[in-house]
Amino acid sequence: MTAPIRYATATAQPNIALVKYWGKRDDELNLPAAGSLSVTLDALHTRTSVRFDPALDADDVLLNGERDAAQTRKIGAFLDLFRARAGVETRARVESGNDFPTGAGLASSASGFAALAVAADRALGLNLASRELSLLARRGSGSAARSIFGGFVEMAAGKREDGEDAFAAPLLDAVAWPLEVVVAITTRAKKAITSRDGMDHTRKTSPFYRDWIATANADLGDARVAVLARDFDKLARLGEASCLAMHAVMLSARPGLIYWNAATLDCMRCIHALRREGAGVFFTIDAGPQVKAVCLPGHAARVAAALREVQGVEEAQISGLGEGARVEAGA
Ligand code: DP6
Repeated sequence: MTAPIRYATATAQPNIALVKYWGKRDDELNLPAAGSLSVTLDALHTRTSVRFDPALDADDVLLNGERDAAQTRKIGAFLDLFRARAGVETRARVESGNDFPTGAGLASSASGFAALAVAADRALGLNLASRELSLLARRGSGSAARSIFGGFVEMAAGKREDGEDAFAAPLLDAVAWPLEVVVAITTRAKKAITSRDGMDHTRKTSPFYRDWIATANADLGDARVAVLARDFDKLARLGEASCLAMHAVMLSARPGLIYWNAATLDCMRCIHALRREGAGVFFTIDAGPQVKAVCLPGHAARVAAALREVQGVEEAQISGLGEGARVEAGA
């Protein structure tokens, strides 16, 4: 009897960290050096299908319609974690697409590995609990551990050497505090240095790396309190501080990592001006030049309109907070 073809399709959304993750305590298991806190978005999506097919000799991976040998190896190694649990060797065909620019600082690896983890789990009939899925998604990308969940999510750095305590967990539902995020796109080009390489370079060369990790751990506790109290001003202070401290440690690497462009800086100034005029908004920026403006409910339209006027901003999209990764279809 031939083994059955097993497939599933899952959807996941990117998340935006308000307390940033930038540095690992273990490269092999992809363990973060500090915890982080994020919001999962609802307007940007990754849709991933995985099909374990006994007729395949090798994994076949199509990302946004293209094959890439390095990505295929990375995804094959990720799927090995699931194959090992299921006790199968079957190769898979993976098709994944984003409805937003890939690799441009919009957390495509977060939604990508979260969707793949959920699809592979369903296709192989593993039925893992979401904590387990978060642990596995982390192996693909640290931020992917957070996109397993919706709303406000906290990722623990953990202490264990085997990494079994480094997973994300939901902190607050999106409906409990429906903040909005304006994503201002300042370029659609792929970034020159991936997060993974940038983190490694920062850890190895920045004289401020240890201080950065200590700050991130301290900010996490304060941000958790701010979220649970729905204290926007406090979260705004902490969110901008965490973002700027991360970029400061990036800049202090040797040679320095500069992810911003001129429009990035103008967007930051615009957001500060809006805040002085009474808008409930703060910025955050990841390893790329896009600016995410986190807004109090009802303030996003005004913020998006202002950001669209900033020279160099190609588009400003409003997103609510969304749900975690989920299966769409499967057999
Ligand atoms: C700047 O999760 O992409 O977006 O674990 O190496 O895959 P790897 O890194 P990744 O890094 C995300 C970095 C960040 C900040 C954040 O999302 O916390």
